[in-house]
Amino acid sequence: MKIMVIGGGGREHAVIRKLKENPAVETIYALPGNGGIAADAVCVDIGAKDVDGAVRFAKENAIDFAVVTPDDPLVLGMVDALEAAGVPCFGPDKKAAVIEGSKVFSKNLMKKYGIPTASYEVFDDPAAALAYVRTAPLPTVVKADGLALGKGVLIAQTHEEAEQAVRSIMEDKQFGASGDQIVVEQFLTGPEVSVLAFTDGVTVKPMVSSMDHKRAHDHDQGLNTGGMGTVAPNPYYTKEIAAVCMETIFKPTVAAMAAEGRPFRGCLYFGLMLTPDGPKVIEYNCRFGDPETQVVLPLMESDLLDAMQACRNGSLDKTDIRFSDRSACCVIMASEGYPEHYEKGYEITRDADVAAQVYVAGAKLDSGKLVTSGGRVLGVTAVADTLPQAIQAAYADVEKVRFGNAFYRHDIGQRALQALEN
Ligand code: AMP
Ligand code: GLY
Repeated sequence: MKIMVIGGGGREHAVIRKLKENPAVETIYALPGNGGIAADAVCVDIGAKDVDGAVRFAKENAIDFAVVTPDDPLVLGMVDALEAAGVPCFGPDKKAAVIEGSKVFSKNLMKKYGIPTASYEVFDDPAAALAYVRTAPLPTVVKADGLALGKGVLIAQTHEEAEQAVRSIMEDKQFGASGDQIVVEQFLTGPEVSVLAFTDGVTVKPMVSSMDHKRAHDHDQGLNTGGMGTVAPNPYYTKEIAAVCMETIFKPTVAAMAAEGRPFRGCLYFGLMLTPDGPKVIEYNCRFGDPETQVVLPLMESDLLDAMQACRNGSLDKTDIRFSDRSACCVIMASEGYPEHYEKGYEITRDADVAAQVYVAGAKLDSGKLVTSGGRVLGVTAVADTLPQAIQAAYADVEKVRFGNAFYRHDIGQRALQALEN
């Protein structure tokens, strides 16, 4: 089989490595991939948002199956275009991807179907939004409606900060048209859990849970990033909580999307908060999370391609989805200064005895050398019998991977260990 994977981050590298375990897979093309992915797939210089380019490439190369993982092409309708051209795809169509593409849509969906989430108000008029946040309970959470590179959420501690957030999103258009509408919601507290789930529009099968670390620096200091590291499973997410989430969140969400005429086929990402009032949805993503995927897929024991094809073909109920009961830890190595300004172009080297998986995100090949080309450069994932062992093994291998300006958090997994001790 010839497979095409859209995207070029650590998540796509993890997906490609896992797909390669299936003996039916002959060639994997990555559009565009990156310098590290080039060791595992044929990289093609077509951007992840280039819908026409992807369709043309798929037809010219007789692609048997396409995997669309990033949010932008999903929200743009790349799956619709590929399927219309006869290319079977893993990933939601445009109508279903709106669950991530519009927070107003997802909040209204949850309200309509009684799925637990923070209470909220929607605004399309800046004056009304400003009047509301001047007296809203604090802290208050202001979210741009559309995609904003993971940066469209602002938690305001004062009314002035909330007003500033509304102004920058709705008036200064910091995120462009994504800020035409905003959601202002109640601030929730509790441990966060990420759950990725396979669904074919009817059946939903969750993968192992994980915990992201979004802030740039140790002890959750610094700016929000795309994610600086992950562990799986998430110890806060007990069997009892998983059972509650299945009945109150996962099944109702999949049924709600189907009832709305938007059946979701692909990977649905549930960003959850375990509040004192029970688990609530913080956000949905219409795709695998990054870096969650970099700990979840290494723990997957059943076949990834089978699962993806079952999501596409509606046979997930008959498909074996299994995860190991071991643990994984991924430490992201980034360029100093990320998520703001950083230098790139430094050579990446590693010792021969690195046992962990190294998933490459921001790197390119330059005269045969792998050099840094992005903020998040790579993820180092170790799998072990226990979480403390996985954390220790990941950090031991981080020491053996080197590039100029490297920085990483030193406390990935520490919060999870606290949960294990309690
Ligand atoms: P999102 O991009 O929606 O995942 O939001 C980014 C981060 O903001 C989340 O991972 C949470 O840590 C935080 N957040 C979002 N919504 C809320 C909320 N209602 N209450 C507390 N924290 C929130
Ligand atoms: N790690 C969060 C995300 O992929 O959106």
